[in-house]
Amino acid sequence: MTIAIGCDHAGFELKQQIIDYLAQSKIDYKDYGAYSPERVDYPDYGALIGKKVGAGEHEKGIIICGTGIGMSIAANKMKGARAALCTSDYMVEMARKHNDANILALGGRTTTIDLAIRMIRIFLNTEFEGGRHAVRVSKIHSLSKR
Ligand code: RB5
Repeated sequence: MTIAIGCDHAGFELKQQIIDYLAQSKIDYKDYGAYSPERVDYPDYGALIGKKVGAGEHEKGIIICGTGIGMSIAANKMKGARAALCTSDYMVEMARKHNDANILALGGRTTTIDLAIRMIRIFLNTEFEGGRHAVRVSKIHSLSKR
């Protein structure tokens, strides 16, 4: 699995730290930018990662802006994307088990690298429980047809 990763300027520093962790851990990733701390617009990157993951080009993605909020809103506009903004181990665990989140949204200004690494490990290693949760997730996707 190759993780898609993207950020805006406010998420750039944390993204670089996460990339260091992924490389050290021999976890494959593809960096979709931003490639510098120069100011950019988070919807461009949130939508890009949302589209790549939603279309199945990558199984999972990580997106980072200042708070993770704007990125997650943008990514979730893309078909098939289920981005979850998480700030704790428990939130990530539930995002995987109950929501089958395929994108983890993080706040570069709100999340330490230690917490980010812990949450990424949970994100990559926790399975979706399926069953009644699969019915609910499919209901989420049918909402976009209204
Ligand atoms: C950029 O200043 C900031 O608005 C952005 O990174 C993000 O936090 C938006 O949700």
